[in-house]
Amino acid sequence: MDALVVTGGRRLKGRVRASGAKNAALPIMAAAILADGPVRLKNVPNLADIRTMSRLLRELGVRVEREEKSGDLVLQNERPARVVAPYSIMRTMRAGFCVLGPLVARRGRAEVSLPGGCAIGDRPVDLHLKGMRALGAKVEVKHGYVFGSCRRLRGAEMYLGGPFGSTVTGTANVLMAAVLARGTTVIDCAACEPEVQDLARMLVKMGAGIRGIGSPRLLVEGVDRLSGAEHAVIPDRIEAGTFLLAAAATGGDVAVEGARWNDLFALVHLLREAGAEVEHLGDAVRVRAPRRLRSVDVTTLPFPGFPTDLQAQTAAMLAVADGISVITEKIYPDRFMHVAELNRMGAAIRKEGPAAVVHGPRRLSGAPVMASDLRASAALVVAALVAEGRTTVSRVYHLDRGYERLEQKLKRLGARVRRIKES
Ligand code: EPZ
Repeated sequence: MDALVVTGGRRLKGRVRASGAKNAALPIMAAAILADGPVRLKNVPNLADIRTMSRLLRELGVRVEREEKSGDLVLQNERPARVVAPYSIMRTMRAGFCVLGPLVARRGRAEVSLPGGCAIGDRPVDLHLKGMRALGAKVEVKHGYVFGSCRRLRGAEMYLGGPFGSTVTGTANVLMAAVLARGTTVIDCAACEPEVQDLARMLVKMGAGIRGIGSPRLLVEGVDRLSGAEHAVIPDRIEAGTFLLAAAATGGDVAVEGARWNDLFALVHLLREAGAEVEHLGDAVRVRAPRRLRSVDVTTLPFPGFPTDLQAQTAAMLAVADGISVITEKIYPDRFMHVAELNRMGAAIRKEGPAAVVHGPRRLSGAPVMASDLRASAALVVAALVAEGRTTVSRVYHLDRGYERLEQKLKRLGARVRRIKES
């Protein structure tokens, strides 16, 4: 297994480009099931999760190829069209559950394994099933699989809010089913995340009738068939945000190219409150941070609120900021697995129910660490970049799920990072 060895203490400086958004690309790939023609996707990052989704789609009878010259991903339905999404694939990547809606809508039937357990806490799929049932699908859960079927879905009004607000992949799943339903569908309390907007725009290119994109109420006018289409996936706001936080933590000066200002408002405000200068430079977002940042309180919320996927990296930055910060998790109350590892590096963070109290500033020092999920691993890298001495971050496969060429990109910003093989 690979590990990253980071020797900290250098200010990050320079320019870096954000890759395509993993969490936009995954459901957009699933949308290929709905298409009658080929789907060509640009700006799809080369990541483990994308390869897993490709494997799942091939299992379902979709041809998936990465064109060598252009780097585009080309997807095309083929015969035989299968409908079983097996546990062996689903246990490694929850986003695979997004094939449920397209399979039932286009092929009339689906057998999709419930996703595996997750290190960031309880992640139910009840809202996905509620939406599918509202559209008239018969949905049963048996032997760890969801069995969905319907001859033709029919439009319906539904409320997709749960105890923690809207659902990102739930909205994507149900939206992909509603576009082929007979009649009008209203999805209320729909997720507004840029990744859901990107999917909706792609579906419109395929011929879907969707209004209200980016708002919490999506109106869908069902159509009989959808064509293939070409689409460029949006840049990854979480990857971009991770670079901005890492730059700020090291007192650096970094411009992230491709970062979309409007997708990063909540982070921009947090960084400014912490004392950094943040500028919108057309196609880039630039952060310039002082040697010492100030503490800030932050609460994660659905978009346009502060993203839970940047919470861990923010905790790492605030560990070295001056004062006490309170981080409250309103999406995944148990998503604090990074706290113990950050504390091993010298941070003083106390978990208090669904919140973490960060006492800064602390001098972090390098240590062998490992994390249980993607963003927690990213937080350890941010901490390692600030820490004195050498940090070995094990289980790099978590990072490889969501960050394309992370060590090369960090190196270009002046970080001392290398990948090693660990036995
Ligand atoms: C997406 O997961 C992302 N994954 C996650 O990113 C991200 O953390 C999350 O949205 C929140 O922004 C992908 O897009 C592939 P949700 P998703 O359904 O869709 C509750 C990463 O690191 N809920 O929006 O699975 C749920 O428990 C990953 O890249 C229900 O109650 O998240 C949570 O509290 C990790 N019932 C809240 O809603 C449901 O049926 C939001 O979850 C579904 C969700």
